[in-house]
Amino acid sequence: MGILRLSHVEVRVPDIELATAYYVELVGLIEVERVDDEQGTRVFLKGWDEHQHHSLVLNQRATYGLDAVAFKVEHAADLDDLQAKIEAAGVSTSRHAAGTLAPGSGEIVRFTAPSGHVVDLEHGQFQVGNRMPKLNPPIGPEGLIGMAPPRIDHVFLMCEHINVTTDFFRDVLGFRMTEQILADDGYQLASFLERSHSTHDIAFLTGPDGGFHHVAFWVDDWNELRKSADLCAYHGVTVDAGPTRHGATRGCGLYFFDPAGNRNEMYTGGYWFDPDDEPTTWTENEIGRAIFYYQGKLNQAFMTVHS
Ligand SMILES: [Fe+2]
Repeated sequence: MGILRLSHVEVRVPDIELATAYYVELVGLIEVERVDDEQGTRVFLKGWDEHQHHSLVLNQRATYGLDAVAFKVEHAADLDDLQAKIEAAGVSTSRHAAGTLAPGSGEIVRFTAPSGHVVDLEHGQFQVGNRMPKLNPPIGPEGLIGMAPPRIDHVFLMCEHINVTTDFFRDVLGFRMTEQILADDGYQLASFLERSHSTHDIAFLTGPDGGFHHVAFWVDDWNELRKSADLCAYHGVTVDAGPTRHGATRGCGLYFFDPAGNRNEMYTGGYWFDPDDEPTTWTENEIGRAIFYYQGKLNQAFMTVHS
């Protein structure tokens, strides 16, 4: 019951055609649908092994950044339960019938989290399948191009008061904290939260409210990170960091930027987290190893924020 996992993110891009070409031909997502409305064009994309209509939405806007982050809930009744808890916590919500906020969308409860981010809880997004049969399927569809991640993995956001947001996600939304980074004075600098038993479905880093650090897509192993880095180099895409290892989560990743300036990550690894596991804590003097385990320090661009 409750939230299952990250469903999708909506990001802003000024040049919708350039961004769509990047996400389809280099990242290797699949364009499912596009719509034009009074605000501009919206493009709906998904990883090849995702069954639902979209996991990434590109919104044509004047700048870059994050418009919304959405989580998938298991049952329709979870929307009622979570909406009541969010309202009881003093946060106002709105309810949207299936198909009204976006083509293919399920029923959605929308609110603004204490971090300043628009958050959607969604049930029943339209299913389009993964282009493979349910009877004796092959291991993947033909014709994949680019990095071709099978699915979205997590999102990494920024806000001023990590502890307030972490408490809200734990107490109201039912997330479990897997790891945190604490300053010397005890102030929470980062927290990693999950509902899917992975190391994180969402994480927060200290910064301005509403800040967007990156959206990550899953790849199956380290070799896929190498292939992704090769593709970045070949196509002249700016690599921010990696392929490297994170100390926090023990995952491996490659950071790079889309043409608008939104940071992407290809991510793999990490560990299983049980609900009765205790969180891991990193201290401020080890924040470099927590983020970039091999380098042991943050690079210049890491704290760059898109809000
Ligand atoms: Fe990440």
